[in-house]
Amino acid sequence: MCGIVGFVGKREASPILVEGLSKLEYRGYDSAGVAIIEEGDIKISKCKGRLAMLEEKLKEAPLSGAIGIGHTRWATHGEPSDLNSHPHANECGSITVVHNGIIENYLHLREWLSSKGYKFFSETDTEVIPNLVDYYYKGDLVEAVMKAVTKMEGSYAIGVITKNEPDKVVAVRKDSPLIVGLGEGEYFIASDIPAVLNHTRDIYLLNDKEFVVLTKDGVQILSEEGEEIKKEIYHVTWNADAAEKGGYEDFMLKEIHEQPKAIKDTMSSRIIPGQPISLDKINITKEELNGIDRIYIVACGTAYHAGIVGKYVIEKLAKIPVEVDIASEFRYREPIINERTLIIVISQSGETADTLAVLRESKKKDCRVIAVTNVVGSSISREADDVLYTWAGPEIAVASTKAYVTQLIAMYIIGLHFAEIKETMSKADMELIKEEMLKLPEKAEETLSHKETLQKFASKTYMHKDMFFLGRGIDYAVAMEGSLKLKEISYVHSEAYAGGELKHGPIALIEKGTIVITTLTQGFLFDKMVSNIKEVVTRGAKVMAIAFEGNNVIEKIVDSAIYIPKTLDILSPILSVIPQQLLAYYMAKQKGCDVDKPRNLAKSVTVE
Ligand code: F6R
Repeated sequence: MCGIVGFVGKREASPILVEGLSKLEYRGYDSAGVAIIEEGDIKISKCKGRLAMLEEKLKEAPLSGAIGIGHTRWATHGEPSDLNSHPHANECGSITVVHNGIIENYLHLREWLSSKGYKFFSETDTEVIPNLVDYYYKGDLVEAVMKAVTKMEGSYAIGVITKNEPDKVVAVRKDSPLIVGLGEGEYFIASDIPAVLNHTRDIYLLNDKEFVVLTKDGVQILSEEGEEIKKEIYHVTWNADAAEKGGYEDFMLKEIHEQPKAIKDTMSSRIIPGQPISLDKINITKEELNGIDRIYIVACGTAYHAGIVGKYVIEKLAKIPVEVDIASEFRYREPIINERTLIIVISQSGETADTLAVLRESKKKDCRVIAVTNVVGSSISREADDVLYTWAGPEIAVASTKAYVTQLIAMYIIGLHFAEIKETMSKADMELIKEEMLKLPEKAEETLSHKETLQKFASKTYMHKDMFFLGRGIDYAVAMEGSLKLKEISYVHSEAYAGGELKHGPIALIEKGTIVITTLTQGFLFDKMVSNIKEVVTRGAKVMAIAFEGNNVIEKIVDSAIYIPKTLDILSPILSVIPQQLLAYYMAKQKGCDVDKPRNLAKSVTVE
């Protein structure tokens, strides 16, 4: 996730672009840059770091001109660095581009363009765009951009300028947001409305594959066939604060709703039906994997819970024994690890002190370390031997939601990749999992529709001091995450238990009115879980059950049922966690808690 802006008018573009970017920093902030048309030439200023660094740079070496584009980056392809920052240009600097999204076929395009003599300098996927536009440029920027996008697969919102037509900015979007701001004799493009609200409240909301041409005389919108499109003006009546949250009350709610996209992005270009799993930065050979006799997944909090799901997945698919441990425990308990142990550390921030310490200790003991992280260029990503990035985009709310589901996707990708290398699964079974995974974004979207039931349940139960989460197998792993979400944002005490463990103690706590959230998605454990539900219902518990559609039989025994779309049992965590996140959210809201900044917590725990 990144933010882009563009401006055409009579005023100085540079401060307007920077001010617009400051409203988009929530979309990414590891580097920033602007390109301005200055006396017929394109001048670029960009650097790694927060926007403030770019502002400093521009103070020392100002750029002057009334047309430009700008970018604030959340790295996906290539670590945060001056070189990888946007804008990106073709070799001679005549065409310059800012981009938000992922060009999935960039490696193929890069190879193709290289064969035609084009040169590349950064590690980004974006750099193919100015070169592709250059390839098609025959004196008409709009036509060249239109031709270039026919070759681009993936998601993009782009702003393009060329010194050969120094009066315009051309932009287009597909699966990444882009709006047009309509001022008085000045026009804007931006990834989100807050970036233009200081200048105008009149907006065009663009659809996929609509091309925009901004000049100081006006805005033209064209279809991919080149026909002019008439758009209605949308007049913004709300304030910038609300807009940064995309109209959601809190970042957490927004991030819960971004999960379908985060899941899709994390699978993008890695899972393709009929093709082997493609992993950018994990290079493990069959020989190396055969030399591994045990995997340890080590992490903290929510990431640790993703690791527990990872154990089920990797053991089932790749038949390698997996242990999961909490980083702060693992680092002090002298685990028996050596060159035959593979360590997988999971960390959204890539900076968690305990997880980083585990990585360093493990490397000292000759273990190979794979990192699963959301932050390109983080300490963990730099120090690990191999990295698998989750492409969740910046997670602002302290409680992790979209990072968790993408960490789960990473576990499936690693499981499938190892199964392929070790040949532990039939091709048909492998393809079935891939096909079902590709349906998950849509099913996650459907799962988000249960808000009303969850809100109602929360409004009846939020005064309770204790709650239980029950599940068996992989459902137990997700119950732990559901329970953590509830505690951290609503301050309701809760415990997660494996269904079969109940009668060994915790059932003593069940009494009339105790709230129990159960998940039953595992076909072979369904009847056993039903028995566990009956055990608590008999003792007076009020039960909410989460199950696949079609299991209506549970309605007869529980107080509230949430049905999630059917998928393979092994993939259920991606969907079953969503109602649990929403329940925690609505409980917290009922109690008036600050869901984005729960008490005593920090987003990145860089101390022990
Ligand atoms: C809970 C939460 C924390 C983090 C944990 C690890 O919602 O966000 O439990 O998961 O602090 O953080 P990372 O993944 O950054 O290492």
